[in-house]
Amino acid sequence: MDLDKAYSVKTPEDSRKLYAEWASTYNETFIKANDYVYPRTIAQKFDEFVPGTEITTVVDIGCGTGAVGGFLANLRPELEIIGVDISREMLTEASKTKRIDGSPVYNDLIEADLTTELPKMSFDAMISAGTFTHGHLGADTFISLIELVRVNGWLVIGINAKHFSSQGFDTALQSAQMNARTTHAQFHNVQIYGPKSPHFGDLATIAIFQRL
Ligand SMILES: C[S@@+](CC[C@H](N)C(=O)[O-])C[C@H]1O[C@@H](n2cnc3c(N)ncnc32)[C@H](O)[C@@H]1O
Repeated sequence: MDLDKAYSVKTPEDSRKLYAEWASTYNETFIKANDYVYPRTIAQKFDEFVPGTEITTVVDIGCGTGAVGGFLANLRPELEIIGVDISREMLTEASKTKRIDGSPVYNDLIEADLTTELPKMSFDAMISAGTFTHGHLGADTFISLIELVRVNGWLVIGINAKHFSSQGFDTALQSAQMNARTTHAQFHNVQIYGPKSPHFGDLATIAIFQRL
């Protein structure tokens, strides 16, 4: 399975099919083979910028096999992490991930197509890597997901940098700021893949902000 295949998805149904096929080998053939460092980096950014107090629950949007949650749980063992994904097969892999103390990384895992349905829950914070990208989740979903975070809660959202302007994430975020739905975001451009990867140089923009 290669990156072109991941970028060829156009609809939620395409994602369901692709990740059903890919789930059992994703960690080997994608994360390891491409030196995919983004989950570790976003977890570090979360740990650096989101205050430790008053944050108990975090939702991992498009959690996949659980790479982001795994790093976050190591850095912030006190957090309850809830994963959401459209792919039952990816969620099955995520359910196998364990914290240092042997307990599951994810306190709960929810199967949902986030383009059409949002969990009826509220969280103190949100994190996401690899899911706001070509053919996956777009700017409209990005904005609707803000409601899942309680007022004054935090969002640490990675968006493929190539699509940040071209797919309207920048204008969506600006209008959320202007309408006082969110604070002004700070942005960090980070590598998605490590120096050993043929894809080294592909960047993600991590937006960090609070819901108002
Ligand atoms: C590239 S993977 C990233 C997984 C994980 N966050 C990581 O960094 O390894 C993208 C994930 O988005 C999920 N996804 C795609 N479309 C979705 C949708 N409409 N609703 C919920 N999840 C979706 C896929 O099933 C897949 O697990």
